[in-house]
Amino acid sequence: MDKKITKAKSIKGTLRVPSDKSISHRSVILSSISDGTSIIKNYLKAGDTLTTVDVYRKLGVKIDEEKGLFFVHGVGLKGLKEPEDVLYMGNSGTTTRLTLGVLAGQNIFATLTGDNSLRKRPMKRVLLPLKNMGANVDGRNKGEFLPVAIRGGSLRGIEFFNEKASAQVKSALLLAGLNANRKTTIIEPVMSRDHTERMLKAMGANIKTEFDEGGYRVHLFPSDKLNPIDIDVPADPSSAAFFVAAAVLVPNSEILLKDVLINPTRDGFFRKLKEMGANIEYTNHREQNGEPVADILAKYSPDLKAISVEKREIPSMIDELPLLALVATQAEGETVIKGAEELRVKESDRIKAVVENLKQIGVKVEELPDGMIIKGKQKIKGGIVDSFHDHRIAMAFSILALISEEGIEIKNADCASISYPEFYQHLESLIEK
Ligand code: S3P
Repeated sequence: MDKKITKAKSIKGTLRVPSDKSISHRSVILSSISDGTSIIKNYLKAGDTLTTVDVYRKLGVKIDEEKGLFFVHGVGLKGLKEPEDVLYMGNSGTTTRLTLGVLAGQNIFATLTGDNSLRKRPMKRVLLPLKNMGANVDGRNKGEFLPVAIRGGSLRGIEFFNEKASAQVKSALLLAGLNANRKTTIIEPVMSRDHTERMLKAMGANIKTEFDEGGYRVHLFPSDKLNPIDIDVPADPSSAAFFVAAAVLVPNSEILLKDVLINPTRDGFFRKLKEMGANIEYTNHREQNGEPVADILAKYSPDLKAISVEKREIPSMIDELPLLALVATQAEGETVIKGAEELRVKESDRIKAVVENLKQIGVKVEELPDGMIIKGKQKIKGGIVDSFHDHRIAMAFSILALISEEGIEIKNADCASISYPEFYQHLESLIEK
């Protein structure tokens, strides 16, 4: 499906965007290996997180949905069943990498594959440390790509330096570490999202986190069991980001986004926008299941200034960088994003996707190997862009379309449903033409 979005007069309203994708994945994965029944409220029902439910059902976990709640009947740390067929992971890197960590400690055999995009994404970053822990695992192209086959077994705890600050790799090793013979330690030069650590703590795992001159450290000691949890998943800051950006860019706009996760490993985009001079405020600050949550009020901000984004800032805004680049086209001065080479191995090569699309709609931008340079105060003429089958690219360009002269048509726009099935309806409901 292609979608054309045209200029808006303003964006106004109150919205609760869908629930957080990272926390939703983890809630099903961790409760699947707990001892007992967990109840998940506000689970994200989108492409990727429904893939996770499907995969854990195929691994023998009973998961029921009733009146909007998900009941996950955990099978214990080593209780997963050997799947009868290849596990299909769709578009979901998080499901794949975290599940490899879980499978590494199970006495079963499994094969994993995914869609065109996922089969091109790097897996060695998880396979290598899991092999070091003692798992039998290999994949296409010397273990770099799916399909991957894994036979779990006895694991030893390792110390791992998470150079790319990948939360998926960290989480995979922590999940494997639950079934290891001794302590697993992960060291991160820059802390990546810590939802797995927070949830493991809440479920009674023996886990310690600390900061020192080397960065952030997590120590996980093997466990006999995880306790089930009841969890209410907050709204996804990565989805809220699109409407915050819309309010900031479109004249006369004001929007209130409810119940948004503002974990400091995730809210870098909002902090960066404030640094640019955007009118954004957190209200009704509170804690929900060990995670900080707030409502976000965002208003039209005509005096944005260019900024530079440094490597250490990248993890807290990794999924929002394409959107940040688009906002930067409206800021005074030149915005430089560097140290973001990880963007090249997301659902698409997001540096290439942003640069090619911006050029298509008449915007000047310079591509760097690890980022881009964006000139500010540019007119957005409009035209046709490609989503590259990447949900975040489709949604980011839909937002830029709101300030375009001739509108922007997005090819294959329906991929937004990977994280946000209601995106276009929500956008429509907030636009004043
Ligand atoms: C995620 C971690 C990040 C992020 C992805 C979700 C997670 O990926 O980009 O959308 O839930 O752990 P990396 O671990 O590859 O940095």
